Amino acid sequence: MDGTRKIFVFHDQREISNYLIKKWKYISGESIRKRGYFAVALSGGKTPLYFYSELAKPKKELPWDRTHIFLVDERHVPLSDSNSNYRMIKETLLNKINISKDNIHTIPAEESLPLDSAQKYEETLRNFFHIPKDEFPEFDLVILGIGEDGHTASLFPGSDVMGERNRLAVPVILDKPGYNRITLTLPVINKARYIIFLVTGKNKASIVKEVLEKGNTSLPASFIKQEKGKLIFVLDNEAGSHLSGAKR
Ligand code: 6PG
Repeated sequence: MDGTRKIFVFHDQREISNYLIKKWKYISGESIRKRGYFAVALSGGKTPLYFYSELAKPKKELPWDRTHIFLVDERHVPLSDSNSNYRMIKETLLNKINISKDNIHTIPAEESLPLDSAQKYEETLRNFFHIPKDEFPEFDLVILGIGEDGHTASLFPGSDVMGERNRLAVPVILDKPGYNRITLTLPVINKARYIIFLVTGKNKASIVKEVLEKGNTSLPASFIKQEKGKLIFVLDNEAGSHLSGAKR
């Protein structure tokens, strides 16, 4: 069964965060009622900074004691490195909320090889979700961004990991300057009950149109297809400015 796809365009980050916090509350409440926990995978990058900071503010009455936070992807750098996604999420969110360290599942990026980090993260996922080799975890929520080249998570255009259909997490060895990475694979992301793309800024308007209206199937973000859940694009006016018409 194909999931549903929704597109929402908001005025600014404040409106986006208000919507996302309501959605987070609903999804976490439903997940905890049904399964006793809420498993969410967060992306790095700059776009989610504002949202994570808003999420961390007090009086949001969020169920942090039953929330388990994972990462969508990570750079192969020490967790204290300024380029670490974990460090960004820790500084904007985790340090400000009352959450047990047992509920935070980092990608062990400090392993000597990205492959070792990916294999250890896969083990973490299999142990947490209690799944055997041939099954995939079902996150309750995955928050994604989109790069100007159409990448999402650390799934880059033309990368051979786009074809990975068995492993849960893989290393991404970049042949350009930058850091090697570890990322969740497409099957894991697409199994999530809710996938929310958070995209803002004029510099993303053309790639958003490529993905949402031109259906440019060469772009990794276009491969994010809901298998049985809900796919929601949350944009600000700038990122949505090239679209012919999106629900507000
Ligand atoms: C990362 C992210 C990556 C990000 C996009 C968008 O490790 O950088 O996981 O997939 O979501 O690159 O990044 P910005 O939000 O900074 O534009």
